[in-house]
Amino acid sequence: MSSGISKFAGLLLGAVGLILPIAAAHAVDWVRVPGKDVILLYPAQMSWELLLTQADHSGAKKFRDGKDCRGCHEGEEKASGTLLVTDKHVEPAPIAAKPGFLKANVKVAHDATRLYIHLEFDPGQQPNAGMDKDFSTKVAVMIDDGGVTEATRAGCWAACHDNSARMASGGDADTTKYLVRSRAAMSRQGGAQIKPADELAKIRAENGYLEYWQARLKPGAAPEVVDGTVLEKREERAGPVVTAEASEKGSQWSVTFSRPLAAGPGYKSFQPGKTYTVGFSVHAGHTAKRFHYVSLEKTLVLDGGKADFIAAAN
Ligand code: HEC
Repeated sequence: MSSGISKFAGLLLGAVGLILPIAAAHAVDWVRVPGKDVILLYPAQMSWELLLTQADHSGAKKFRDGKDCRGCHEGEEKASGTLLVTDKHVEPAPIAAKPGFLKANVKVAHDATRLYIHLEFDPGQQPNAGMDKDFSTKVAVMIDDGGVTEATRAGCWAACHDNSARMASGGDADTTKYLVRSRAAMSRQGGAQIKPADELAKIRAENGYLEYWQARLKPGAAPEVVDGTVLEKREERAGPVVTAEASEKGSQWSVTFSRPLAAGPGYKSFQPGKTYTVGFSVHAGHTAKRFHYVSLEKTLVLDGGKADFIAAAN
């Protein structure tokens, strides 16, 4: 393209930008974006506290000494999920005929204003667990920007605790995901006592929370989107800024999340030069709460660098 034409195109785009300040409809041509397969495993009741206890998990000491989850488990997700989905020690309520893992193909991109995360996955033959009557399938992304060290090292497990709902010491309580830093004290059963509001506000202001996005999927309907944060609990926002588009073919789903690169207070800010940790989850077969598939910790950068996912400019 000659510089004359590109200058003209730039002017034109500038003018359009003035007229249409919201570029939410920008379409990424996903066929041209390389994807990566991620295996999501069924985690049963393997909580943060269990994983840090040597008697329960032989990786505990080495994890404490600095080796991240993926350092031992990457490539083993299918075997781990298949084991856990029927393992009586960590799965007291097995769902009959539930597959132990699921494969998602993930692509990322950004444009001048937004980040896009695109997932394609096929839950295959899933028994209907009847826990979520409305949505057969839900897909989520958990995001950190380095503010939560244990998420950098362990992804979603940073928020997965022994006393959360349907976990080993959680029972039917409605305790959601939370972070260790939100609790006054921790034990093998997790932490019951939440820090006072002023301390939590300080932690939030210092970026010590996780962000999550979720799309709730029903064949033939637009996805229902929520976004929010995890600190002392999983907290959904009243009006999400994250959007999602979804389509299905047979049992295969294709979902594109998008969010402004800068979305204001309470949202992580996406910028080149920073490394983000992302974790993916899928609830399939009308499941809820912990009965999902999850990925190990993955990394994301914008434009260039070393990471599992590099969001190139579109
Ligand atoms: C030093 C290596 C090492 C590290 C680091 C490690 N693990 Fe493990 N993990 C193991 C070994 C070995 C087993 C199997 C024996 C056992 O359960 O104690 C295991 C078992 C598991 C299992 C049960 C399924 C299976 O395949 O046996 C899960 C789930 C798991 N680890 C998750 C994690 C997570 C999440 C982290 C990070 C918080 C982590 N591990 C860190 C070595 C490790």
